[in-house]
Amino acid sequence: MKIYLQIQRFNPEKDKEPVYRKYAVEVDPKDRLLDALMKIKNREDPSLGFRKSCAHGVCGSDAMVINGKERLACKTLIKDVAKKDGATVKVEPLRNLPLQRDLMVNQSPFFQNYRQVKPYQINPESVREKERIQSPEKRKQFDDATKCILCASCFSACPVKQEVNPEFLGPAAVIQASRFIDDDRDKGFEERLPELDYPDGIWPCENRFECTRVCPRNIKVTKLINLTKRRITELRKDKEKTKPRI
Ligand code: SF4
Ligand code: FES
Repeated sequence: MKIYLQIQRFNPEKDKEPVYRKYAVEVDPKDRLLDALMKIKNREDPSLGFRKSCAHGVCGSDAMVINGKERLACKTLIKDVAKKDGATVKVEPLRNLPLQRDLMVNQSPFFQNYRQVKPYQINPESVREKERIQSPEKRKQFDDATKCILCASCFSACPVKQEVNPEFLGPAAVIQASRFIDDDRDKGFEERLPELDYPDGIWPCENRFECTRVCPRNIKVTKLINLTKRRITELRKDKEKTKPRI
């Protein structure tokens, strides 16, 4: 079948504003959108810029906005976004991040927020044996959060970042924090707390569920944000209780 990709193009050396360019491409309905982009890049326009690496939904590098929704190009089948011969598919870069070129954005603000929440195990106690043992039941508690591939789709789709507070920490950083907060081997909750518990931290989330809707790993993003909010509130209450009375 023949479809058209209407792709947002932007060359910072030449263009003042992004423009759309339409490409006709022959595809099989079972091809992925990434295959169509590669065809255009290899056969028609080598200047087309986009990121990709694993091509199997693992690295998270080819997240983009396809027909208005954040998706991984390597996990998006043509038949799901182009219903019939001659259909046009709109392809745009992620939102809420500075545009670099064509479908590429500067991911630094996203990864800066990710690093801010200390996404690693904090445990000053020395390891008694070879490793810290954990039961399968305890491991299950943070299983969902471990699926995150840092694709930034949730960061792009978040309406709070778009409309209310561009400084909001963003869903993925909270998910990464929750992955360690819910891990009983981690002792860094209080150390991580100032990176979450401040006005632009976890609190701007308004439960709009866009992050959950677009997450390519089907993580229950909004639910994990709410559970983390609850953990913080409980910790605050515990601290109040143990405060010495003057
Ligand atoms: S939570 Fe989902 S959408 Fe957000 S970065 Fe992780 S995998 Fe991507
Ligand atoms: S290229 Fe790695 S997730 Fe798509």
